[in-house]
Amino acid sequence: MSSSEPKGDLGLIGLAVMGQNLILNAADHGFTVVAYNRTVSKVDHFLANEAKGKSIIGAHSLEDLVSKLKRPRKVMLLIKAGAPVDTTINHLVPLLDKGDIIIDGGNSHFPDTNRRYEELKAKGIYFVGSGVSGGEEGARYGPSLMPGGAEEAWPYIKNIFQSIAAKSDGEPCCDWVGPAGAGHYVKMVHNGIEYGDMQVICEAYDIMKRIGGFTDKEISEVFAKWNKGVLDSFLVEITRDILKVNDTDGTPLVEKILDTAGQKGTGKWTAINALDLGMPVTLIGEAVFSRCLSALKEERIRASTKLLGPEIPKDAVKDKQAFIDDLEQALYASKIISYAQGFMLIRQAGKDYGWKLNNPAIALMWRGGCIIRSIFLGEITKAYRADPDLENLLFDKFFTDALNKAQPGWRRSIGLATSYGVPTPAFSTALAFYDGYRSKRLPANLLQAQRDYFGAHTFRVLPEAANDHYKEGEDIHFDWTGHGGHVSATTYDA
Ligand SMILES: *[C@@H]1O[C@H](CO)[C@@H](O)[C@H](O)[C@H]1NC(C)=O
Ligand SMILES: *[C@@H]1O[C@H](CO)[C@@H](O)[C@H](O)[C@H]1NC(C)=O
Repeated sequence: MSSSEPKGDLGLIGLAVMGQNLILNAADHGFTVVAYNRTVSKVDHFLANEAKGKSIIGAHSLEDLVSKLKRPRKVMLLIKAGAPVDTTINHLVPLLDKGDIIIDGGNSHFPDTNRRYEELKAKGIYFVGSGVSGGEEGARYGPSLMPGGAEEAWPYIKNIFQSIAAKSDGEPCCDWVGPAGAGHYVKMVHNGIEYGDMQVICEAYDIMKRIGGFTDKEISEVFAKWNKGVLDSFLVEITRDILKVNDTDGTPLVEKILDTAGQKGTGKWTAINALDLGMPVTLIGEAVFSRCLSALKEERIRASTKLLGPEIPKDAVKDKQAFIDDLEQALYASKIISYAQGFMLIRQAGKDYGWKLNNPAIALMWRGGCIIRSIFLGEITKAYRADPDLENLLFDKFFTDALNKAQPGWRRSIGLATSYGVPTPAFSTALAFYDGYRSKRLPANLLQAQRDYFGAHTFRVLPEAANDHYKEGEDIHFDWTGHGGHVSATTYDA
């Protein structure tokens, strides 16, 4: 190691758990990694312990880091999102040359990544924003990586990224997502979907517990069985395991946990973006709102003594097997809707932001390594491989058939929960979306009439209803009260 030729394949800034594990992962795959942290003692400690004997070099300054990297230099940041990323980039850029690559592997919000991509492009630096999912374990043994930004960088980082990423049937769960902030965008939607997946699992648990009268051990056994079928996934698997854990007094630990959910904001970002783009991503929205409602614990306690609901009899469920089978279909169908909505959002983002997105690769990247990994994503990958521009996931035969088969049980589960007063916000919103999506006619005709009545907002007529005075495609205002004017509203907003 005494040669002055730089040896580093990748520089990594930020030695928190994710950073350390990603470095060890890359070193295991034969890459030489240069590790840096602003707190230099962290670098020395890491080098003397976890990194000892591996192809990992320490750096004591950004200059030192840069000097140890092969060209074009590839520097990855795994630090706290927000201002620290800008600060570090600002210190780094004067040390780099045109054509060098900066990768942000943190949880940055995609508009920040868009901005940094543009700023760095102007300086000749290739900027990549990459979603990284899978937690500590994933970072160490194979995360899901979702890189986007300057595509010129991809040939230089492809080998490292695909080597360290999780594999699904031998294929790396990492491919190029698209331009600018697309990588972080897709990671944001991944997190939103994760919110939804968790919520639907919680609803199934709540129904089994409160209506079925199941013990946590019995519920764990149901999840264990589901995990061998269409719902096979990381989140179902950990739910099975969580429900088995007893506290020292021999009762389930999960029942001692305060029922107010926290959130870091990525689910909220997805829901806000869905509203911005006008996409009905209702399940993720409900999942975020459900966490908000859970946080109102004190109010809920007061309401529980005032607001009435039905009693749940001990024998509410007569046929346990049928009850569980219906519930499995409810969970499965709701999950299909949630993913279809997520891909509707991604498709719209592609249009609105002018991004060419790699849909089959997105599904494959979520197939392994990350929190939402599941068997099911294999089917989504197949659907988008068969038709990369698929209008809607629900039009793929596999999913059309799955929903058509699931819908009777899905309806029965929601009906049962509703009649016994157990909330199913995600199951219900998914079904409402399903029924709305498959409705040729929705009551928005009346809504348009209301808007025209109070605000002269105009309406159009159905093609088959067009006639001499109501022409197709024409904005019409009708004098509903008989004493209004015929002037339609352009500025007036009631
Ligand atoms: C240094 O490491 C800490 C964790 O130990 C991490 O939170 C921080 O982001 C790192 N900062 C830089 C600039 O390397
Ligand atoms: C937890 O306790 C229940 C009884 O409350 C028991 O049936 C179960 O086996 C225990 N689980 C474990 C993992 O020890």
